Amino acid sequence: MLPPDRIKLHEYYFRPFLSQAVIQERVTELGNELNARLAAGNPSFVIMLKGAFIFAADLLRASRLGGEVSFVRTSSYVGTETGGEVKLLLPPEESLVRDKDVVLVEDIVDSGLTMQAFLPKLRELGPRSVTLVTLLHKPEAQRADIPVDLVGFTIPPKFVVGYGLDYDGLGRHLPALYQLEETY
Ligand code: IMP
Repeated sequence: MLPPDRIKLHEYYFRPFLSQAVIQERVTELGNELNARLAAGNPSFVIMLKGAFIFAADLLRASRLGGEVSFVRTSSYVGTETGGEVKLLLPPEESLVRDKDVVLVEDIVDSGLTMQAFLPKLRELGPRSVTLVTLLHKPEAQRADIPVDLVGFTIPPKFVVGYGLDYDGLGRHLPALYQLEETY
């Protein structure tokens, strides 16, 4: 039987994957872990738009860490496949990176190509340290070796939406995560 909360975005159906409660519990743990690592430091949160904005809002509050917040934006996927090329649409603010303990907040590391392109640009600005936190990690899809420090959930290489992540502009508002349904 199909789950009652199966949803349709454009032409695709998605099934419930991770509930709001499960996500919140894990985000609380990640926040505590960040606090333990960085409470004595000089944290500066750099948030990857657009997908990480909801995760970052919850993570910051869970971490109880003060510190600056800034946003960066790289070019995103078209549809559900990576195009491979990564452009920097909104670059990092140097004054919020130099000599800071940067907490880089990402929604998902999939192929890793975005981070492979972005991390050297961030390091050029002279952070004291970089801690990469991602809500989701798809190691089976990874095509670049990325030093991910904290992972919310390791997931299979299937497309997901919700909790800030979209499919072609839809689904960011969903409080839970949904996975693309491949069989009907
Ligand atoms: P990567 O460069 O392949 O690691 O992908 C990075 C970006 O692709 C993420 O920040 C997301 O914006 C997007 N992306 C990758 N997989 C998914 C997914 O399953 N759902 C929604 N967006 C995704």
